[in-house]
Amino acid sequence: MPREKIITGIDIGSTKIATVVASVSDNKVSVIGVSGNVPSKGINKGNVVDIDSAVEAISQSIEKAERMAGVSISNAFVTINGSHIENLNSHGVVAVAPSETSDITREDVSRVIEAAQAVSLPSTREIIHVIPRDFIVNSQEGIKDPVGMSGVRLEVETNVIHGSATAMRNISKCVNKVAVDVDELVYSGIASAEAVLTDTEKELGTLLIDIGGGTTSMVAFLDGSSIHSAVLPIGGKLVTNDLAIGLRSRLEDAEKIKIRLSNDALISKVDLHDDGEDFDVSEFDLEVERIPRIMLYKIINARLEEIFRLIALEVTKAGLSGKLPAGVVITGGAAATAGVERSAKVNLKMPVRIGTPKGVTGLIDEIKGSDSAAAVGAILYGVKLYRGSNLLSFDHKNGNIGKSVSKIFEKFKSFLP
Ligand SMILES: Nc1ncnc2c1ncn2[C@@H]1O[C@H](COP(=O)(O)OP(=O)(O)O)[C@@H](O)[C@H]1O
Ligand SMILES: [Mg+2]
Repeated sequence: MPREKIITGIDIGSTKIATVVASVSDNKVSVIGVSGNVPSKGINKGNVVDIDSAVEAISQSIEKAERMAGVSISNAFVTINGSHIENLNSHGVVAVAPSETSDITREDVSRVIEAAQAVSLPSTREIIHVIPRDFIVNSQEGIKDPVGMSGVRLEVETNVIHGSATAMRNISKCVNKVAVDVDELVYSGIASAEAVLTDTEKELGTLLIDIGGGTTSMVAFLDGSSIHSAVLPIGGKLVTNDLAIGLRSRLEDAEKIKIRLSNDALISKVDLHDDGEDFDVSEFDLEVERIPRIMLYKIINARLEEIFRLIALEVTKAGLSGKLPAGVVITGGAAATAGVERSAKVNLKMPVRIGTPKGVTGLIDEIKGSDSAAAVGAILYGVKLYRGSNLLSFDHKNGNIGKSVSKIFEKFKSFLP
């Protein structure tokens, strides 16, 4: 009998709450239930602004996924998002206890990561992830896994992603209120990266951009792990707003027009110079029946340009200009916006591709869109954790990760090699 575990991902976005349930065996992650897009309520740009409404939406989303999967969800990996999310790179160093062999043990690795975690963050901040980037043994750099090596001095370079303690607590509180335990909060950028990036992209250097309705999360990867993260409080909703203003239409109509135009653009290329055929808006009770596509593209493009320019600034600020040769991977619901690839190419001056979730089987039709990246990625993040890969498999004693990892270690020992 294959050993199987249920792992659930809940993506709490500013537009929708997406729950995905997977049955995980040693070599397969199979999606068995999805919520579809339950509209997000009580969440603004990643922050809980109304607990009751948020709880109601989360509960609806979980119930739908439970019904489809035929299981009851008791715990989940939950995404966290919002411009309160920041990061820093931190260094840790410890002496390796002398022994007969001076071999570095898992405990030494835990200690050095704990040392790197001892950064002075104000009490209003809480660590979300401590990602070891590189170990240094007796001054030798570039070591990915030091366990078993000989040495007396062990150092680590880590990328620490942290967020507002209140924002994190509120998200957890909402999920707990529907009687679901949070295995771990996962920064939505890290979650999406798990679902859409290849190992080669992470190794060579790439920028993951997840564009949602109210937020745009980004993570840069270099040498296999994350090196910089940031969240901008803008996204696809602003594109819709601009269209509504430009067309003097209702927001719901502008959203429909945007999505239909974007779906069309998958077939016919977006050209900002060539008019092409007019776009039929006769069903929307606007002042006109037909609109030149070029006009709609220009409205959309202006906003996309703003988003990508801000991202370009962030890349420069992080000192990563020219260091991400594998280019940009765009995902999230708004990755489907007409002209997104073109605008990203022009403004970021890097190669661009659109990323959709990979690495799962089962109900793949339900999760194949870029808008499912974060929910699927939350599951894959959990799978990695359970399987004891080196991303976060360290048994810390402090902090969010530590507690849940040790809890997980107890619960899922069977998963570890
Ligand atoms: N086919 C599409 N074309 C253009 N934009 C889309 C499309 N589908 C979704 N969007 C946009 O994606 C945004 C939602 O992103 P998503 O990642 O699904 O949600 P969240 O904001 O909860 O993260 C919305 O602004 C929506 O208009
Ligand atoms: Mg999203």
